[in-house]
Amino acid sequence: MKTRVLTGITTTGTPHLGNYAGAIRPAIMASRQADVDSFYFLADYHALIKCDNPARIQQSRVELAATWLASGLDPEQVTFYRQSDIPEIPQLMWLLTCVAAKGLLNRAHAYKAAVDKNIEANEDPDAGISMGLFCYPVLMAADILMFNAHKIPVGRDQIQHVEMARDIAQRFNQLFGQGKALFTLPEAQIEESVATLPGLDGRKMSKSYDNTIPLFSSAKELKEAIARIVTDSKLPGEAKNPDNSHLFTIYKAFANNQQTANFHHELTTGLAWGEAKQRLFEVINNELAEPRERYKELLAKPALLEEILQAGATKARKLAIPFLEELREAVGLRSFKQPLQKVQQATKKSAKVARLVSFREKDGQFYFRLVNANGDELLLSKGFANPKQLGELTVSICQHMAELTVQPQADKLALFWQGECLALSPAVVNEELKTFEQAIFTALQEIAEQQD
Ligand code: TRP
Repeated sequence: MKTRVLTGITTTGTPHLGNYAGAIRPAIMASRQADVDSFYFLADYHALIKCDNPARIQQSRVELAATWLASGLDPEQVTFYRQSDIPEIPQLMWLLTCVAAKGLLNRAHAYKAAVDKNIEANEDPDAGISMGLFCYPVLMAADILMFNAHKIPVGRDQIQHVEMARDIAQRFNQLFGQGKALFTLPEAQIEESVATLPGLDGRKMSKSYDNTIPLFSSAKELKEAIARIVTDSKLPGEAKNPDNSHLFTIYKAFANNQQTANFHHELTTGLAWGEAKQRLFEVINNELAEPRERYKELLAKPALLEEILQAGATKARKLAIPFLEELREAVGLRSFKQPLQKVQQATKKSAKVARLVSFREKDGQFYFRLVNANGDELLLSKGFANPKQLGELTVSICQHMAELTVQPQADKLALFWQGECLALSPAVVNEELKTFEQAIFTALQEIAEQQD
């Protein structure tokens, strides 16, 4: 089976050069590989969390759809759709909401940042925070799990959300899978080599810094934006340091090696900044002129855009409809004509389950976390290079409970097996060390029982 790659684009704002070089262009390149099956969608339900202006929502969806298609995304080759055209996604979201631990969502960065800001301003902690913001990661989990995606290319700020999707999937599988993995466990994919473009002022190009260069504005507007790039005050003829110049960094993202080497040389031998900006304009315009025309054409044909996205939705729903049916079946939402199953105590959701959750960190290493039934973290492991080794270890430790020891280490508890420290607890106050140790063993015991 091909690797399923899936990613969503929140439909707020007008795309800029940074979005293009950092996300759109690499995603389109990746979608052309033969061994992947790509799903790209406009996350327009997510956009509603951040924006309550209908006209802006409307405009942004159209612009983003046109941007991706004009940039070369082939809707025949990938599945390209609007999230809000797939009613199975919010239905799945509800099934997931019912198993997602509130404690897990309390820890989501975006929600926590909003709470911290309120506390700092002496406001009620939840002031201005919608349930949409709180449940954001569950909707994202539904996006991902609906299509059983393996790889999720995202920015660093989204890694935690992909991990949460994994965590929720594991819990769902455990509760309703009857030994079968209903959901594929997704993994975040961080592309290290992709350019993060600086903006006009040298900080990361971002709408929130108001330092962007719009992607498909006219050639004239592109030129004007480039003219506003901040440079040092070196005069024509004076040597410039390219490696200190964000103008050069942007240039590199659009030029081939030969052009980059020439430009580097010219700057060090006194090219005037005005000239340099002209070169930058040319190299960007060279890449964008054609897509810009296609973009204009697409915006002029909204019915065609609509048709392409409807076709994408049909393709996506071919998978979503039967899969949701299977999931409804799994949780017990079944036709009345089906014979009744014997009710077993163990299927009660209140039966508490602790879990060992494995995930991959930014450093590329693999870790596990031991959490109790409430989703509270009890242990976080050291890093492992090899996910298979980690998987085997998590099974082994539960089978060798008697050989495990827990010892205090500074203000934490350390888990030891075969003389090696495998994991550490969060900081624990002295009086609670014993209770915490007990909680660790209870959780491991529960997991061992599930494995039997
Ligand atoms: N939250 C993502 C962002 O802001 C967008 C998104 C929504 C997404 N659903 C997704 C990304 C599913 C990957 C997979 O960037």
